[in-house]
Amino acid sequence: MTSQVRGVQLARLLGQWHALPGRRRSPDYAALAGAVRGLLADGRLPLGVRLPAERELAEALKISRTTVTAAYRELRESGHLASRRGAGSWTMLPGTHRVASTGLWTPLDDRDMIDLGVAALAAPPELLPAARAAAEDLPRYLGGAGYHPTGIIELREAVARAYTDRGLPTSPDQIMVTNGTQHALDLVLRLALAPGGNVLVEAPSYPNALAALAARRARITTHGLAVEEPGWDADLLLGGLRQARPKLAYLIPDFQNPTGHLMSAALRERVVATAHSVGTDLVVDESFVDLPLDGTMLPPPTASFDRHSRVVTIGGMSKPFWGGLRIGWVRASAPQVQRLAAARVGVDMASPVLDQLVAVHLLADAPAIVAARQAQLTAQRDALLAALAQRLPEWRVTVPHGGVTLWAELDGPISSALSRAAEEVGVRLAPGPRFGLDGTLERFLRLPFTLPAADLVEAVGRIAAVRYDLDRGGRSQWREPAVIA
Ligand SMILES: Cc1ncc(COP(=O)(O)O)c(C=O)c1O
Repeated sequence: MTSQVRGVQLARLLGQWHALPGRRRSPDYAALAGAVRGLLADGRLPLGVRLPAERELAEALKISRTTVTAAYRELRESGHLASRRGAGSWTMLPGTHRVASTGLWTPLDDRDMIDLGVAALAAPPELLPAARAAAEDLPRYLGGAGYHPTGIIELREAVARAYTDRGLPTSPDQIMVTNGTQHALDLVLRLALAPGGNVLVEAPSYPNALAALAARRARITTHGLAVEEPGWDADLLLGGLRQARPKLAYLIPDFQNPTGHLMSAALRERVVATAHSVGTDLVVDESFVDLPLDGTMLPPPTASFDRHSRVVTIGGMSKPFWGGLRIGWVRASAPQVQRLAAARVGVDMASPVLDQLVAVHLLADAPAIVAARQAQLTAQRDALLAALAQRLPEWRVTVPHGGVTLWAELDGPISSALSRAAEEVGVRLAPGPRFGLDGTLERFLRLPFTLPAADLVEAVGRIAAVRYDLDRGGRSQWREPAVIA
């Protein structure tokens, strides 16, 4: 499979690629090569695609062909490009790279890196005892084949009970256990969305959800979220649904990733009613629903406003407990669950029994574990906010009252350039454009508060140092981005 990126497409992805002003100024060809490496590392430029011919890219970027030739040469030398005379140049990665937990490509020697690309906590101390207890339980399952396409009954009961306790009566046959929330989304999309189907998503949104939609070749309409509360503009969102009449809408109403916003009960009700009236199915991602902070009261679950099986809810253990468990679920009508289970047989058959038993034990201890997570996240968020206020006071942030991330509006469309500079001083960032489409959102940066406070403070110090370094030559060369979501 060979795909090709055209000159204008690459130019759009590259955005503000120019050599940065100030002390760190490098020649244009090196800056161009660095920007291409950045796109490869964060997944916006796939591996194995053919880059435009030198002349075509030079025209698209309005620079000399010699600069492009030198940049391509540097990329070949660093192992990021393979060329065959007369045939073209393909993107690749040096053998020293691997896929990091963010899904991004990273060099192997990154042990000292402070990784702010991942928005997930290390495992809680209760994990090991839960794993030991699960091993004790395992003999009960060993007499069978071990395939449970909707999940083991104990876990489905525990998950159903948690929904019922939140005011959404749920029976175990409305639950299908999956290998994480991402897997849940992928399965739902396989069932609910024909290739090329029309989908509405928030902008910014969760990058791996966008990747799952891209894999279905979805045609995407976006609803832009504001940095400030309440984030969603009710009229625009409902108008967007009425106008686009998408087959499906993917929303994260509970401490949205990346903005941290919480959708009001009133808007949930109106979104569900409007979706039904225009024939849109809603996929509601509740990844962060267990993590309200500051005593924030949760509105009723979005599905509690659903009278017509329009809402499929997905969620999982990764954020309140541990991502390494790979346990998530779908809550839908019982017939939908049966259809999902049938679709799953062609994918992965079922989830591991042992991991599901670990999840059962953790859920039995959920109130204590989650309370400790909330206390930890509150302290880390506050340390991050204090460091930002002190070191980068011109950045605008809204304090998130839940979840694990904050969404900062920067003092210029510099997110990708800043991420590249930060990588050099040992801080990995996920730049704003990762959370949108078409390379927009350069003015924003997601900062998770899942690492210890000392690491967050150190990371902000390093980011501030490279930020002000970018500034030395003056800021005037930055242009306003075409679109700000
Ligand atoms: C909104 C959202 N959905 C899904 C996921 C993936 O979760 P899981 O690890 O359960 O697959 C994440 C992880 O960051 C997320 O933020």
